[in-house]
Amino acid sequence: MEKLSFTVSTDQEKKIEALIAKMTVDEKIGQLNQVGPSPVGGFEISLKEKKLMLKEGKITKEEFERDLEGVQWDTRESDVRSGKIGSFLGMRGVEKCNHMQHIAVEESRLGIPLFFGLDVVHGLRTIFPIPLAESCSFDENLFEQTARIAAKEAAATGIKLTFAPMIDVCRDARWGRIAEGAGEDTYLTSRFAAAKVRGFQGDDIAKDDRIAACAKHFVAYGAAIGGRDYNSADMSLQTLWETYLPPFKEAVDSGVATFMTSFNDLNGEPCTTSKYLLKDILRNKWRFNGAVISDSGAIGELIEHGTVSDKAEAAEQALNAGIDIDMSSMCYTENLKNSVLRSNISEEELNEAVRRVLRLKFALGLFDHPYTDELSGEKMYLCKAHTQLAREAGRKSIVLLKNDGILPLKSNLKIAVVGELAATRKEMLGTWAAMGRGDEAVCLLDGFAERNISVSYEECCKVNGTFDRTALERAVKDADIVIAAVGEYADMSGEASSLCNIGLHGEQEKMLSALKELGKPFVTVMFNGRPLAVPKAVKISNALIEAWHLGSQAGNSICDVLFGDYNPSGRLTATFPNHSGECPIYYNHVSTGRPTSEIRHSCKYMDAPLTPLFPFGYGLSYTEYTYKDFIINEEKNGLCAEVTVKNIGEIAGEETVQLYAHMQKAKRVRPVRELKAFKKVYLNPGEEKRVKLFIDRCAFQYYDMQMNLVEGSGAVDFFIGHDSTASLKTVMILGGGSNE
Ligand code: NOJ
Repeated sequence: MEKLSFTVSTDQEKKIEALIAKMTVDEKIGQLNQVGPSPVGGFEISLKEKKLMLKEGKITKEEFERDLEGVQWDTRESDVRSGKIGSFLGMRGVEKCNHMQHIAVEESRLGIPLFFGLDVVHGLRTIFPIPLAESCSFDENLFEQTARIAAKEAAATGIKLTFAPMIDVCRDARWGRIAEGAGEDTYLTSRFAAAKVRGFQGDDIAKDDRIAACAKHFVAYGAAIGGRDYNSADMSLQTLWETYLPPFKEAVDSGVATFMTSFNDLNGEPCTTSKYLLKDILRNKWRFNGAVISDSGAIGELIEHGTVSDKAEAAEQALNAGIDIDMSSMCYTENLKNSVLRSNISEEELNEAVRRVLRLKFALGLFDHPYTDELSGEKMYLCKAHTQLAREAGRKSIVLLKNDGILPLKSNLKIAVVGELAATRKEMLGTWAAMGRGDEAVCLLDGFAERNISVSYEECCKVNGTFDRTALERAVKDADIVIAAVGEYADMSGEASSLCNIGLHGEQEKMLSALKELGKPFVTVMFNGRPLAVPKAVKISNALIEAWHLGSQAGNSICDVLFGDYNPSGRLTATFPNHSGECPIYYNHVSTGRPTSEIRHSCKYMDAPLTPLFPFGYGLSYTEYTYKDFIINEEKNGLCAEVTVKNIGEIAGEETVQLYAHMQKAKRVRPVRELKAFKKVYLNPGEEKRVKLFIDRCAFQYYDMQMNLVEGSGAVDFFIGHDSTASLKTVMILGGGSNE
């Protein structure tokens, strides 16, 4: 049976065919053309050059943003009128969307509505934690809820497609886009993918408050060599199928409406034109019937890849491979007509792509309800329910990395706060903040103010800047305790933000060292979009909070944790290295013949510790949990693990029970450990619960050297506990055999 990403009725299918029959070739190509409004005026030079100046430090961020305000945007009204545009990306504002829609529906020959796409990655105006942060909550319900609110706010502004979720597994923190996904683990990323698709789309994308999701970037973009954005990915097919493809398969099975291809080449073939990926796997094997969109400008970039000689060849190859929508390159618009005339592509192939775009528009309900109510958005943006969820998401995403007992903070302490990031609202939003506004976010200082707690604050050190010792001494003079805010600006992670040094920038570390010298107890709060290599900060801080870029309610969420109103429960979803040179680093690497050990001739760096700074799954809490009585039993469709977890501390808390497996013997080397299941359990002080986790039988399948999918068999070690170093173990013989 064909799997449908969304359904359209027989009647709608008839309407689609009737429309296609009436369309000229130009109008058909128009449906495949997705563009953004382009800037005109305001600058004497092009936007590209202006961006370069910003990058090179010739103008400040503030100057750049000021200039941008003076720019006029060309929304290409005449192209919409003549049916040359099928959809927009990056159109902001419900009035603008409605205005353009009126032109499409009322003034174009066939009245086909547009749809508007935007990168609503972690919220629209109410901004939730960046995905990497949110993934640390290990909370599928939360993943879904935040996507639902994001969809609601987006739909209210006329956006009916989000370019999310980003489900690229990433094992290299130098890659800036690690911020946009769920980290290094395939299983967790798959759970994240399913929850996000459910959240954005619900059961019917035609509903007013639902939008179409887009699984991106297909595929292996997170494996960019050296963590350098846009770089090639080169890997075995086994790794592709076992590590990078499963989240995308999960998205298809969850009914995702669209896919976006990735910029990179995979094993020498640009993903934009890979028939293997788009036809053999996505369409034929997985039966995906939604629309496939290229990444921005990627079809034109095939020329730079060196696999086509010009834009015409690029357009033909992309359409032939299965790209329905050309995002921004204009290659389709400028060339496909000639290709049809020359029979380099058939009109039927063109029709098939158009059909998929029209189906999406019907499924979104745009033919019946093309316009958006212009008043509904303002009532809901940042409303109480949405900000409450943002605060909850923020505190669940925080990971407590170190605590010598200083946290939670006792009352009546005199607090000093230092570091630029404690006072910068807009940096809280993180990368891809859609329509989020910096001035609407709660920074750390605001968090204290909301609790009526007065603190002495001095900036002392900018993220990239030099450290002012005199200011530090002034700020902390009378303080009992210091909160030091350090980390990265929002735009240091995300697209085009790869770094080869992922330590603390500027002189932030000097500031922490000075606090140590002054003998003041201090809590370091880190704001960042990737794992950071900060061994010194860990060593000298009394406590270390990983606060990521938590979004609109960042300051409140952090204060909830600082003052113990929330017992931290987040767990890392990407390994923290001791040093940038350890990247790529990930917990689920395969077994080597010389496992890491003190022995010289073992797999390790001579100048780095044997273990990472913090492993996958790691995170402290204000209480402690113990585990006992771990068993695994075979069930009809898989395995059921059971363990007793007890809260042995004095504070209630939520534990993330993590189950890992290692196959003792197989036809190919297997990971030393792989996450197979997890479950969150809330425990009052002294309370214990029996926790059950289910593992699907398919979880042990893998690919042999000839790329046959084989069933894992024989002895499997299972580990259960608090993180990926869990030591409570049982062994099970797959396909018969019981616990050791
Ligand atoms: C390029 C990015 O790679 C992609 O993730 C994004 O959706 C598009 N630009 C549109 O903004």
